[in-house]
Amino acid sequence: MSQIAASEEHRLTDAVVARIADAPDPRVRETLQALVRHLHAFVREVRPTEAEWATAIDFLTRTGQICDDRRQEFILLSDTLGVSMLVDEINYGRGGASTETTVLGPFYVANPPVCANGDDIGRGLAGEALFVEGVVRAAGGSSLANAIVDVWQSDDQGRYDLQFDDPDMFFLRGRFRTDAAGRFAFWSIMPKSYPIPTDGPAGSLLAAAGRHPFRPAHVHFRIEAAGHQPLVTHVFVAGDEYLTSDVVFGVKDSLIADFQRRTHTQPLAGPSIDRPHRYLRYDFVLADARAKAAAAG
Ligand SMILES: [Fe+2]
Repeated sequence: MSQIAASEEHRLTDAVVARIADAPDPRVRETLQALVRHLHAFVREVRPTEAEWATAIDFLTRTGQICDDRRQEFILLSDTLGVSMLVDEINYGRGGASTETTVLGPFYVANPPVCANGDDIGRGLAGEALFVEGVVRAAGGSSLANAIVDVWQSDDQGRYDLQFDDPDMFFLRGRFRTDAAGRFAFWSIMPKSYPIPTDGPAGSLLAAAGRHPFRPAHVHFRIEAAGHQPLVTHVFVAGDEYLTSDVVFGVKDSLIADFQRRTHTQPLAGPSIDRPHRYLRYDFVLADARAKAAAAG
């Protein structure tokens, strides 16, 4: 490429950046100008043919078209390209006393079925019985009563309810409230490692990249308490074969836990359990809402 052609390419980038210079919102201006600079640099590096560029446009079009109330392909793309965890790291990566975070993923449902502590979110599904309990605390150590604990997970085949073609299908999700001592507890079944949906654009991108689509088995949590930052995380099953190659890069060591094989458990509250089950105890620590405000300000 001649020097004149190269400088013309950069002149075009400069012209678009300059056209955004008067955007009234400074954050919009900064974001759009960075987007144009990086997008143009990407195109200059890759030097797509017109056919390749049309393929890229078609890919994004199909990504939008496959989305509906139960399918979120853009989140899958963001997750599998590591962008979701990068955003997570930027926003929550400062460390500290609170529980580590990870991706929300595409299967969260706002306002899940309300449950009472001790309820079974498996509701008769086949699988290995799992009892989960824990305490939600503030960074200072005090327990948090009345915190909202949303949980959701796959079944024993690695499937989520949202993947069934039935709008009324809901299983393995629920909303709990911590009791006066900050405790929550529920019955479920063991989750299984699973491939993210591969029948759409995100799946074809993984195949083209020679990547497997699997996530290690986990239970999702989203916990909210007044005066604290909401916590979005998972607890992963120790020993899972995909812990080191999670397709969405979401595993952190502190989130891997032993789902113990037991025949007897004395729960934090309620009668003892005397039958074979798996047992998970995991306590969560929420960061103070003011910590975030201070960091941002
Ligand atoms: Fe998941």
